[in-house]
Amino acid sequence: MKIGVPGDTTPGERRVALIPETVARLTKAGHSVQVTSGAGTDSGYPDSAFEEAGATVSSDASAVIANSEILVYVQSPDPSAISSATTGAILISMLDARTDAEGLQRLASAGLTSFAMELVPRIARAQRMDVLSSQASIAGYKSALIGANMLGKYLPMMMTAAGTVPPATVLVLGAGVAGLQAIATAKRLGSVVEAYDVRPVVKEQVESLGGIFIELPAPEDAEGAGGYAREQTAEEQAAQQQLLADHVATADIVITTAAIPGRPAPKLVTAEMVARMSAGSVIVDLAAETGGNCELTKAGEIVLTENGVRINGPENVPSSVPNDASRLYSRNVAALLDLLLDDEGKVNLDFEDEIIGAMSVTHNGEVRFTG
Ligand code: NAI
Repeated sequence: MKIGVPGDTTPGERRVALIPETVARLTKAGHSVQVTSGAGTDSGYPDSAFEEAGATVSSDASAVIANSEILVYVQSPDPSAISSATTGAILISMLDARTDAEGLQRLASAGLTSFAMELVPRIARAQRMDVLSSQASIAGYKSALIGANMLGKYLPMMMTAAGTVPPATVLVLGAGVAGLQAIATAKRLGSVVEAYDVRPVVKEQVESLGGIFIELPAPEDAEGAGGYAREQTAEEQAAQQQLLADHVATADIVITTAAIPGRPAPKLVTAEMVARMSAGSVIVDLAAETGGNCELTKAGEIVLTENGVRINGPENVPSSVPNDASRLYSRNVAALLDLLLDDEGKVNLDFEDEIIGAMSVTHNGEVRFTG
């Protein structure tokens, strides 16, 4: 197959969809790979590395798009790129399928067979292609570094000739993939880590990383479909906020990662809670792009409150660790290609397959995604 990496053009996106390691695997298997010059520069994969891996590097992105049977991106390509693609080509990318109906229609109208990487089902067989996990893990790790960097304090306890400095306390709200990685990273940096999640099942995982789990008697059905949390009732939310208020007030860094798939982020940290925090403390809100877990978060900004708390709502955090984020994304794509291509290297679209069925969003001019 002719596989193309035109390069992502979304502002701020530094990742590349395939890295040379994967390209070498594909070219060895008999596929041809074309890459637009500079596609991997921001993530530390120069053109020369792609060439060594057997790819053809072209300065003309439109030609790469037009000549490819399979196109691979990190984020949705822009409309002009889509119009350069050949009818019947396969597109593999994160596509915001749950929210971007117009984008899906555009892909269907262009006759593309599109796969939305973010719709990977959370089943054991799909773990190798799970971009939600690979990218969330990166974001969780980076959130701890962002918090540490913004805090004007040591994270570990320091015993110095000038006296002892106490360790910082990091509170992590939401202990899914990102939260657990934030806990592990904050712990490695030497802080005291507390964590809370609405799913009591994560208590053991938090404790195995050295974190202290904050317990609230949880409703039996806190865990919804697919191991995800469900949205909470107003009473449950109030009880939760009461419990968390004292912990938020004493934390040096609060990292929030709570999410409900397809829904706005749950509000866990209120303005009153922030008002009780000490000057100089920091909130890193990884849910900023879906509305934020803190009432005061502004996506893409650092808000300074009157009492001296800084609330960071970073966007596209995985892109700030572009080398490894691309490496993992590229391996996730390679795993999907293993499933889509048969032993002869031809595309075999079995829509009855649970993974292919869930991730394919447009085919034959139609939008297949039904929400
Ligand atoms: P996510 O990004 O949707 O949510 C992050 C965390 O926020 C979750 O742990 C969730 O319980 C928590 N949360 C939601 N509402 C909350 C609230 N009001 N207060 C506190 N916490 C709240 O989820 P993520 O991290 O993508 O995965 C969650 C779970 O999915 C995993 O822990 C695992 O059980 C399952 N999973 C399964 C996989 C597989 O089988 N292949 C792969 C990855 C995850």
